[in-house]
Amino acid sequence: MKEKIQENFNQRFGTDSVVYASAGRINLIGEHTDYNGGFVFPGAIDKYIMAAININGTDKVRVYSMDMDAYCEFGLNEEDAPQEQWARYIFGVCRETIKRGGTVKGFDTVFAGNVPLGAGLSSSAALESCFAFALNDMFNDNKIDKFELAKIGQSTEHNYCGVNCGIMDQFASVFGKKDCLMRLDCRSLEHEYFPFHPEGYKLVLLNSKVKHELVDSPYNKRRASCENVAAILGVETLRDATYTMLADIRDKISDEDYRRARFVIGEKQRVLDVCDALERGDYETVGRCMFETHDGLSRDYEVSCEELDYLNDVARECGVTGSRIMGGGFGGCTINLVKEDCYDNFIATAKEKFNAKYGHEPEVINVIISDGAHKVVD
Ligand code: GLA
Repeated sequence: MKEKIQENFNQRFGTDSVVYASAGRINLIGEHTDYNGGFVFPGAIDKYIMAAININGTDKVRVYSMDMDAYCEFGLNEEDAPQEQWARYIFGVCRETIKRGGTVKGFDTVFAGNVPLGAGLSSSAALESCFAFALNDMFNDNKIDKFELAKIGQSTEHNYCGVNCGIMDQFASVFGKKDCLMRLDCRSLEHEYFPFHPEGYKLVLLNSKVKHELVDSPYNKRRASCENVAAILGVETLRDATYTMLADIRDKISDEDYRRARFVIGEKQRVLDVCDALERGDYETVGRCMFETHDGLSRDYEVSCEELDYLNDVARECGVTGSRIMGGGFGGCTINLVKEDCYDNFIATAKEKFNAKYGHEPEVINVIISDGAHKVVD
């Protein structure tokens, strides 16, 4: 991909360029816990957004997206925000860097990627982290720390893209480490790397191809429900809530908010249980927790959809160890922990049954846990 992008850059802008990349992510467990101050357990994957960049000596940013075959240019002042949604990610990263006292000068860029869009693999966080990392390297002597780079991406989502997301995706994209998942405490941002080599198992994603689009989605409504319950409990976030506390205010909140909070309280504990189980090599417990998460996301949090519930049912029927919807929800992928000797049958059955029911096969996505944001050198 690097050569293709650099060649395109050279033809379009007539100069050499430097290439940066950042990764999409998976999340083994810990969904919708990040904006509740809880724990998540993601890892960066071998699917990237890559950008060739060079300073252009003007006060403008000129951007070409190879995948969309679309061009856009914008200035670096607040009033220069572009209309195009895809360009707003880059504009947002520039603005958020400047707001934090960082330097950004005019640059040209060509970017492309292989993170499937709308599949719940955080293509937008990969794009943000790629540019946050690049601007730090090119204009700021890498003086902006990595936590701030992740926050630049998150604030871009909040302020320029209309998604009130947590920190998980950008954190994973910036801090990702080869072969490791990360247990991240989203309140303190303390994190620990867990080498992930599930002997005898495969981790595979099945993309339902139901497009997941968080902008203007009920995602923000889910977050508002949680904040409402936290306010009534008098705690900062649901991180500090327990089932007993929730039971005590049950008649003061809607049934919907009650179920949202019930899921979050359970999910917070499941991340810790999965980490302990992994240390013991106990994949059966990991898998059971994944199924519990799916049930909670489907019934209490209501972010699943028929197709993903169906893929989950098929996984159970095939004896898959753990399976659940992954990411924000409303479409996208399931993540599946599958014993090697069960893998071929599961994939064949899922393809056949899903195709018979929905008229297309789910896309099988194998991932390798990889490094996050970096400069691409030969
Ligand atoms: C999206 C958001 C994240 C997180 C997940 C759900 O990916 O960007 O911050 O909330 O949904 O776990």
